[in-house]
Amino acid sequence: MEEAFFVNGGKELFGKVELHGAKNAVLPMLAASLLTDEEVEIKDCPSISDVDNMLELVREVGGEVFRFGRNIRVRGQAVKNSVSTSLQKVMRSSMFMLGTLLATVGEVKTSLPGGCAIGGRPLDIHLDGLKMLGATCQEIGDEIFCRAKELKGAKIVMRYPSVGATENLLLASCKAKGKTTLINCAREPEIVSLVGLLNNMGAKIRGEGTSVLEIDGVESLHGASFTPVADRIVGGTLLSALSVCGGEIEICGLDERLVGSTLCALRSKNFETFDDGLCLRARAKKVTDCSEEVACDLTTGPYPLFATDMQPIVSAVKCFGKGVSRIRETVFESRFSHLSEMKKLGANVKIDGDVALLSRGDLRAGDMRARDLRGGAGLLVFALGLAGESRIFGTSFVKRGYENIDETMRKLGADMRIIKN
Ligand code: UD1
Repeated sequence: MEEAFFVNGGKELFGKVELHGAKNAVLPMLAASLLTDEEVEIKDCPSISDVDNMLELVREVGGEVFRFGRNIRVRGQAVKNSVSTSLQKVMRSSMFMLGTLLATVGEVKTSLPGGCAIGGRPLDIHLDGLKMLGATCQEIGDEIFCRAKELKGAKIVMRYPSVGATENLLLASCKAKGKTTLINCAREPEIVSLVGLLNNMGAKIRGEGTSVLEIDGVESLHGASFTPVADRIVGGTLLSALSVCGGEIEICGLDERLVGSTLCALRSKNFETFDDGLCLRARAKKVTDCSEEVACDLTTGPYPLFATDMQPIVSAVKCFGKGVSRIRETVFESRFSHLSEMKKLGANVKIDGDVALLSRGDLRAGDMRARDLRGGAGLLVFALGLAGESRIFGTSFVKRGYENIDETMRKLGADMRIIKN
């Protein structure tokens, strides 16, 4: 029996949602918690399968985990140099063990995460940086073996501002000897949040939110308690759902700065937001009822450019709007699989290499299949805007990053539930 999201779309959304901490901040923070044997508390963690799996990894390398609702406490520095292959395969975030285990155990054995549905996802920027810090890294088949007697600070110029590589190099360098400078690093809010935790643990890192990070290595780190930045992708997903459904919602924990490029893509005369610094209130007229053009021309890129994780979700909105939207995906090479599902239900989609042209078609409700996390979220938003009953298969992809999404949407007035067929 396969699980699916059942959506009877076309209902307006009203109500309030409290946003939890960002998945992409919590995952590297859990790895960071293994850099000390004192207790590290991370608050407001979502209950999603990516966090569950990361906690499994933390336990495997020696951390003790205590979970109280959304608060997670980790005690105990890493003591093992590897995690089981089955866990590495399901979790790309096992990549964070590279930096953490090198900095604690002095060696790490892992396997290349391999390609996933959205692209190849190599680790060369991570490994090049770790080598600059003094590690030797060998790749045999899809196995990676890195070792470092001692990590030493270095100047590292990254060829691309990779989010994961920036985080891994932060984890590896905060206890390295001397100063490390990361040039052309990523600037995502989740990295700023990770630096916040590491500095609370005693690290000396400057420059967060800019493309140069300076890290003065310290002897040891200590325990800390930290609340990660709110999940801007979940926030952006709710705003996109509002755009296709119409209504008025309040998202607490979200401010305009976190979703700037998403708001630019959604904003129109009929989509307004009000930010009081604590909550973001948004009011929208259903995009299909708008007579004005709502087309956009956007290109994904590293923060603060338009987030690749929002691309499939905003694409769904643009399949309802008047005018032709042009969306270019530059971060991951195969991130359009959601569009073929939307096309089957009437969306006007033309793909040429890394560019997709989208416009309103003769849309109807029906069955779709998610093949990756954010693509699945895009299909949910699409189904919420369609009049009639749709089913979205591949729920496990969506559950990796959305906590009880069916419940959240029901509270806002959507007719959505999980069914087994
Ligand atoms: C993180 C996010 C993911 C988001 C992505 C881009 C987490 C857990 N995941 O993934 O949700 O979609 O950022 O915002 O935070 N690359 C290389 N070599 C490397 C590393 C990356 O070529 O060594 C390439 C990738 O293939 C990709 C691009 O760089 O094309 C961006 O990847 P990166 O920023 O590293 O993404 P992740 O950290 O994997």
